[in-house]
Amino acid sequence: MMQSEPHMKLKGIRGQMFTYKADPFLTGEEGCYDYYADGLVVIQDGHILDVGAYDTVAARYQSLKASDIDTYTDAVIMPGFIDCHVHYVQSPMIGSSGGTLLQWLNRYTFPTEVKFKDKKFADEVAREFFQQLLEQGTTTANVFSTTFATSVDAFFEESERYDTRMISGKVLQDRNLPDSLKDESAEESIIVAEQLLKKWHHRGRQLYAVIPRFAPTSTPRQLELAGELYQHYIDQGVYMHTHLDETQDEIEWVARLFPNQSNYTEVYKHYGLVDRRSVMAHCCIVREEEWDVLHKCRCGVAHCPSSNLFLGDGEFKYWEAKNPSRSVRVGMGTDVGGGTNFSIPRQLGDAYKVAMLQAKNLSAIKSFYLATRGGAEVLHLENIIGSLAPGFEADIAVLDLKPSEFVEWRMKFADDIPEKLFVLMTLGLNNINKATYVAGRKVYDRDREQKWMYAADID
Ligand code: GUN
Ligand code: ZN
Repeated sequence: MMQSEPHMKLKGIRGQMFTYKADPFLTGEEGCYDYYADGLVVIQDGHILDVGAYDTVAARYQSLKASDIDTYTDAVIMPGFIDCHVHYVQSPMIGSSGGTLLQWLNRYTFPTEVKFKDKKFADEVAREFFQQLLEQGTTTANVFSTTFATSVDAFFEESERYDTRMISGKVLQDRNLPDSLKDESAEESIIVAEQLLKKWHHRGRQLYAVIPRFAPTSTPRQLELAGELYQHYIDQGVYMHTHLDETQDEIEWVARLFPNQSNYTEVYKHYGLVDRRSVMAHCCIVREEEWDVLHKCRCGVAHCPSSNLFLGDGEFKYWEAKNPSRSVRVGMGTDVGGGTNFSIPRQLGDAYKVAMLQAKNLSAIKSFYLATRGGAEVLHLENIIGSLAPGFEADIAVLDLKPSEFVEWRMKFADDIPEKLFVLMTLGLNNINKATYVAGRKVYDRDREQKWMYAADID
């Protein structure tokens, strides 16, 4: 047990508590999680000091006064959710009607992203985006900005105000999109990306990713330089984030653009972009040899079912990704604005339906794993976020088991915590999160007059 420093104030959160300690896809569901009917998390200096049954843990901290404990009834305290793939710059055009992926990009996405040259516009969208994430209990996200440095600065500046652990970077894109959104040249784009990386990577809780949008919007030269940049900084924890195997049209386009590579994954691999900190969004239509490479290279995959349904992409097959003989790290992504909401639990409801189209069940235990610890594994952060455990960063969501009168009534017929969680993820509610803690501070409280508060205004 860690010894608490007498001068560092303790804080507690008490209530039903749920967290994972193993991967249910690999080890089975029994014993993969801890559930406390009356639990206590003790927090000190932004980190979890202790967690467990209230009586046992409270007895160890005599200095923890009742007034320092936030107590929640009819709620489940969980690790904050992790969104492994989302475009903050698409928040203004979420829910734009019509079109498959490539049509939708041209019609709605690119014209919106051009506006982020303007820092004021970027600031406004970043502010709204963080409010939406925190409202839904998401505490970490792996985020696309767009071409312009202004879009990256606006994002990280807002993240710093909440002290959230976030990943982003400049999007690299130098062909097959409007001139106003295109990088000036491959070389210039990498210079700007490296400047931003040096500015933001490991500044507080911020982390940087090298982000070629997807193979069709980068020249071979840009992919080559992006691979070099990634490889240069990979040991310092820099990521690579892109889209892969989302739709059949896209896959065929990539095959025409890169005829020398045997499949889409090989295109990225050829340029040094497939490695242990690479996160691939979608992976709906993946060949067996590609899964094998993603497994061997320890890549992560973001499953984005709301977006896949909205754009009519393809169906993610979790049983392929999580095949125990060559399992790949999988987490959830909203992929806003392809996804039509910011809620990770709502993604789980969609993931269930996508799996059922192929007659595959996806339990609540497996689902919430993808939303928390599974997402942390995708980002190789499973030792610091995604679980309630001593030493972990205190990023926490508080799910309401009575978000409406009807759900309160429905819950009477749910006997145990897996059933209750399944109801929450299936009913598609937008208001199931009561409160969000980031590094131990309550930055969002549904019932507080000022719902969102920046870290500096809290203590
Ligand atoms: N592939 C390339 N760009 C995008 C994007 O913005 N959204 C989605 N869903 N797929 C993409
Ligand atoms: Zn996307």
